[in-house]
Amino acid sequence: MKENIKKILNKKDFTRDDLIALMKIENKDEMDLLFKKAYEVKSQYVGRKVYYRGLIEISNVCIKNCKYCGIRKENKKVQRFSMNKDEILEAVKWIYDHNYASIALQSGERQDKEFVSFIEELVKEIKLLSKGEIGITLSLGEQSFETYKRWFDAGAHRYLLRIESTNQSLFKKLHPQDGYHKYEVRKRCLEYLRDTGYQVGTGVMIGFPGQTEEDLVDDIIFYKDMSIDMIGMGPYILHNDTPLGKEWKNLVVSEKKRVELGLKMIAITRIYLKDVNIAATTALQGLDPLGREKGLLAGANILMPTATLAEYKDKYLLYDNKPGIKDSVEKCQEEMDKKVLSVGDTIVYGAWGDSIHFKNKQN
Ligand code: 5AD
Ligand code: SF4
Repeated sequence: MKENIKKILNKKDFTRDDLIALMKIENKDEMDLLFKKAYEVKSQYVGRKVYYRGLIEISNVCIKNCKYCGIRKENKKVQRFSMNKDEILEAVKWIYDHNYASIALQSGERQDKEFVSFIEELVKEIKLLSKGEIGITLSLGEQSFETYKRWFDAGAHRYLLRIESTNQSLFKKLHPQDGYHKYEVRKRCLEYLRDTGYQVGTGVMIGFPGQTEEDLVDDIIFYKDMSIDMIGMGPYILHNDTPLGKEWKNLVVSEKKRVELGLKMIAITRIYLKDVNIAATTALQGLDPLGREKGLLAGANILMPTATLAEYKDKYLLYDNKPGIKDSVEKCQEEMDKKVLSVGDTIVYGAWGDSIHFKNKQN
């Protein structure tokens, strides 16, 4: 078996079956070989460098009801908050002063006029405040083409919208069937984002009941077919006040297994897509204290330290036991710096760290 895995890892082009064989690796030595290869590909195509995105979770108000997510509209236990412009700008200034050069604004989904205008103005002000130096990533859900365009014209240039699962029957299982949570709409939004000119990011949840290794490989093939520039994905984590958190309590595979699957996803995505940006996400660390370091060693090159104001952090809980919610932003940064240096990567400050894949496509 080991010879077989070695042989696959030395190939230049991979078939779907090759990727499935890699995804099914269970043995520790083979897994190490996979991660080593992914780290080599990362070094060659994007360098042993890590870029930070200061993450600001600006609001937990959401019109959607994804069945896995802690801040879904129907979860009445959540205390809802929306940061005002000054609060957000304060967090942005902190990020700017610490020379991160990139921010990511994330919130639950809203599509009303006030929200769309608020974001448009906010993006313009952030650009002004930083004399154009801060790169802005938005992660604000499904919107119309016009909305995406307005935010792009205001100055945002990267957008994250996870597809969650490209297996459409799993997508249906993850979402209510009420006409507002549709796979085709999600996919069309990714196309709108591409057509608008954004660097486009997507990703999936990993290791939830019913999802197979074949499904995960198809997710990676989807990234390639859609020429995705940035990937953010992480293990599924139960949230007790959600329909699936209850239903899956005794069905979900072990945390260790979900972390392993998450790391294999990063590694195989790196090996197959090569020059994209891949984040080592908070959810990975949520299940393993060393999750982020392991993510970097498996091929990730982006970290998203949260710069959400302390008073709101504990209200943005997508899943149970989210790490770092009691820490100050300073503490988060120190911890994160240590992690990066411990694996031997360099932190790049003062640069946007755009997707090399996106740049290569422009040439
Ligand atoms: N476990 C893991 N990831 C989750 N997300 C939401 N809820 C969970 C959960 N319970 C992820 C989704 C979403 C992103 C904002 O957070 O992938 O797109
Ligand atoms: Fe809202 Fe996003 Fe959570 Fe779905 S995953 S309920 S859109 S915050």
